[in-house]
Order: sequence, then structure tokens, then C-alpha cells
Amino acid sequence: MRLLPLLLLVICSSWVLLQSAADARRTLAEAGAARRPRVRAVSLGGWLVTEGWIKPSLFDGIPNSDLLDGTQLQFKSVARNRYLAADQGGGAAIVADREQPSGWETFKLWRINETTFNFRVFGNQFVGVDSAGRVVATATTPGPSETFQLVRRDGDKNRVRIRAPNGLFLQAKTMESVTADHSEDTNWGDDDPSVFVTNSVAHLQGEYQLCNGYGIRKARQVLRTHWRTFITESDFSFIASSGLTAVRIPVGWWIASDPHPPRPFVGGSLQALDNAFRWAEKYNLDVIVDLHAAPGAQNPYEHSATRDGSQEWGTTDENIAQTVQVIDFLASRYAKSSSLLAVSLLNSPLAPGATLPSLTKYYRDGYDAVRRHTRTAYVVMPARLSADATELLWFAGRFTRAVLDVHYYNLFSDEFDGLTADENIDFVRKNRSSDLAAVTRRNGRPLTFVGEWVAEWNVRGASKRDYQRFAQVQQDVYGRATFGWAYWMLKNVNHHWSMHWMIQNGYITLDSSRSRAIVSPLDGEQMEPAAGRPKQDAVQVS
Ligand SMILES: *[C@@H]1O[C@H](CO)[C@@H](O)[C@H](O)[C@H]1NC(C)=O
Ligand SMILES: *[C@@H]1O[C@H](CO)[C@@H](O)[C@H](O)[C@H]1NC(C)=O
Repeated sequence: MRLLPLLLLVICSSWVLLQSAADARRTLAEAGAARRPRVRAVSLGGWLVTEGWIKPSLFDGIPNSDLLDGTQLQFKSVARNRYLAADQGGGAAIVADREQPSGWETFKLWRINETTFNFRVFGNQFVGVDSAGRVVATATTPGPSETFQLVRRDGDKNRVRIRAPNGLFLQAKTMESVTADHSEDTNWGDDDPSVFVTNSVAHLQGEYQLCNGYGIRKARQVLRTHWRTFITESDFSFIASSGLTAVRIPVGWWIASDPHPPRPFVGGSLQALDNAFRWAEKYNLDVIVDLHAAPGAQNPYEHSATRDGSQEWGTTDENIAQTVQVIDFLASRYAKSSSLLAVSLLNSPLAPGATLPSLTKYYRDGYDAVRRHTRTAYVVMPARLSADATELLWFAGRFTRAVLDVHYYNLFSDEFDGLTADENIDFVRKNRSSDLAAVTRRNGRPLTFVGEWVAEWNVRGASKRDYQRFAQVQQDVYGRATFGWAYWMLKNVNHHWSMHWMIQNGYITLDSSRSRAIVSPLDGEQMEPAAGRPKQDAVQVS
């Protein structure tokens, strides 16, 4: 009978042991949600979404290539010595009475062909000619009466005249009124009220500008050659042999309607993306497909493929639904690939329509679209450029295999003006560390991804050693992101932005023994490969 208490004790303690084993398993299971490759990726920027600064020669063959969609011009009447302005910013007359040009004095081009344009004003209306021949900015969409020809003076392309749809030229007869009634004749002199001097104050060189600048036929040739030559199989071989584990591939929304995307975009980028997956599989690299340019444009930069800087993304349910369809298309096409690691839902959202509610609605729907095709792919949810990334923590943390994406540049903000190399390095070590720590949860919900960084800064005359230290500190700090990081970008005419150049010239050194690492968030113990497919067996101990 004395056995009974002993038995009870054994049962109880086994129960306790079993419970703690269960707890441990649960902890591991939670960690399992965070099982992951620690990604070290490079973005294939400038390949399937055009950015002129990455490869300026792409635009060389466009006639009047300084007059592309979104180019912002100001016009000074030489006779009045005043700038044209859209009175009230738009919705009223065009006047010629401004001494200093600013927003109301700036006109954005919509290019019809190399000499023919619409002019969009500050308030988004288009310049046109009313029935009395007065020049006004009242049309909300451009038609024939909003279509003008820019006639440049031979040998002085900043001196222009503007031919109205009625065949006559605009003139600033007085400061208060601009009319379309000057004859063809001109001596281009400073007394001619139909002559204007232009200032070009901004321009864009994105996919829209390239395609519309060349026109469909020529754009197709130029881009197909670019897609075939800018990134090739040998780049994938180089990437794999450098110790990188993945490529992040920016794509534009029009890829989902390949081979016949809406004007002016041209088909063929899907074939290039298919090739990328084939090469990734061959060289055992992961792929993060990144929706970089969403319908309507989610930021005003050329990499959103905006026409003129306007950013309409997120303003309607239809627009969000269309974006979800693009994600659905990409997930369904590549779900079967052993290289599909992640789908990134929307690069650098900044548009006014990207409010927290519309963005989270889109992320939820985009997540579901990915999950309809794959249970294992990660879903990357980029932070808004204008907001603190922690705003998405609670939201993203509710999804399995969700990744919060932050971009860390020591650029694009005047807080970096005048910092020395050491101060920049310190900023990464301290400030970026704490930024990253603030969004990184130990349980990996969500995982964190420094989806863009670069070893470039505003420091003048930095030495190679400075760049090496800067690249290294970023690898060290961003290596703590629980999903990983991606360098922006593989190739660029500006050398520090080219990881290819930086690696080949010894500015960036990656420890290749760390490639395709799998690490547990708890203790560095090796975990199952995230996507359930063979990986190299290296373990990264952070
Ligand atoms: C540009 O378009 C206008 C209006 O459609 C047309 O009259 C003109 O001939 C075109 N010019 C060129 C160079 O194609
Ligand atoms: C970096 O963080 C320090 C405090 O940790 C702060 O004083 C400093 O202003 C921050 N630097 C920038 C440029 O934000």
C-alpha cells in the first residue's frame, strides 16, 4: 500500500515533466514559426522596373529625351519678364505675372510624342484653350483642346514657343492674360510675347517615361535587349558564389498582363522573370518577388512607374483589388518553384491613399492571395516610408510567416548632411540597431527584413577602408534582422550602388561559409529548412 503514494508521485512528476516538455515543444513550435533562412540577398534593381540613374544609356535613343512624361517645366515670357502661372494653382486662367517660380508656375508634361504634350498644373488640371481663345487650366482630363506643340529654337533648346490646337501660338499679351492667337512669324527676340525661356526643374526616368518616350515598338526592342543582357545566368552564378543566398527581384504590376500590358508598357518581362527562377533553382538561390511598382503608383518616385509623380495607389477598392490580383498572379505562377522564398507586397508605400487602414486591408488580402497558392512562402509587408515601422508590428505579427520590411539608407534626409565616416558608422551601430530592435520580436512574429541598404553616403572623399567599415557595420547590424537583408542593388553605373562592383573590388566581403544559413532564434540550433527543401547545411550563429 505504500506503493500508492510513490506511484502517485511518479505519475505527478511525469506529468510535470511531460508538461514542461510540452511547453518546450510549444516554445520550439513558436520558434518554428520563426524557422527561417537568414537571408542575405541582393536586389536586381533596374532590371524589370526601369530606373534611368541605374543605366542612363537606356534613354539615349529617345528624341527630345529631356521632354519625357513628368518633366516639370517653368516658362518665363521674355517680353513680360514674368513666369506663366496657373492662377489659384488650377481651375482658372493662365496668367503671366509671376516674378518667382514655384508650384503654381510649374507644368508637368504628359508626352503625346516627341513634340506634342499636355501640360498638367499644380492642382492636376490640364492647360487648354477655351472658346474665346484664352488659355486656362480647367480640364480634368486632356483632350484635343489640351494638346500643344513645343517648338524649340534651333541651337537654343531652352527658348520655345507653344503652338495651340488651333495652329496659333500662345502669347503673353499682358500679365493678366495668355491667349492662343499669335501668328507663325517670329524673330525669337526678347520683344516677342510668344517666346518663352524654359527652366526644367525635375524629371523622371522610369518605365513609363522610357516606354512612352520611345513608343511601343522601339521600347519593346530596347527593353528586350536590356532584359536579356543586364542580368544573365552568369550573374546568378556570381551571386551564389559570393556568399549571397537570395535575389530580390523588383517587378511592375503590368507583368501580370504580359504579353499585352496596358499602354505604354511593353510585354516580355515575364519571360525574364521565368528565366530568373530557372537560374535561381540551378544555383540554389532563393527568390523574393517584390511588387515594386503598383497600379496607380504607391510613391512619387520613378521606380513606382508613375507617369508624372502623381500617386493614386490605394484611393479606391478597385485599385487595391487590382493590386491583389497581381500578387495572386505572381504567387500562382511561382508557388511550385523550389526557389520561391517570399512575395513582397508593395515597395516603399508613401501615397496619400496608403493610409494605415487601406494598407492593412491590402496586406491582409495580399497575404491571403499568396496563401491560396503556397503555405510556405513568406509574405513581406513593407513599412510606410512616412511612418514609424512599429505601427505595423501588431498587425503583421498575426500572420504566419509574415515579414516586416524596413529600408535603411544613410541618405535621402538632411540628418546625414555633414556627417563624417565615423559618425555614419556610429549611426548604423547605435541608431539603426535600436530602430531594428524596436521592430524585431524574439518569437519572430513578424520576422524582420532590412529589404534595402547600400554602402553609400554623403561623405566626400571617403577612403576604401571607410567604405569597407561602413559596409561591414551594416552587415553586422542588419544581420540581426530575423529574416535577413537585401543590398540595393546588383548593378549600377554608380559603383558603390553596385554590389557586383563592391564585391569584385574588395569593398564588400561576405563570409561564404555562412551561405544559406538556417538558425533558430533560441540558441543557434539548426532548424528544418523553412520551405521544406534541400539547403546547404551551414549554420549561422548570430
Ligand atoms: C505628334 O502628334 C501630333 C498630334 O497627334 C501630330 O500632329 C504630329 O505629326 C506628331 N508628330 C510626330 C513627330 O509624330
Ligand atoms: C542617434 O541616437 C542618439 C541617441 O541614441 C541621438 O542623440 C541622435 O540624435 C540620433 N541621431 C540621429 C541622426 O537621429
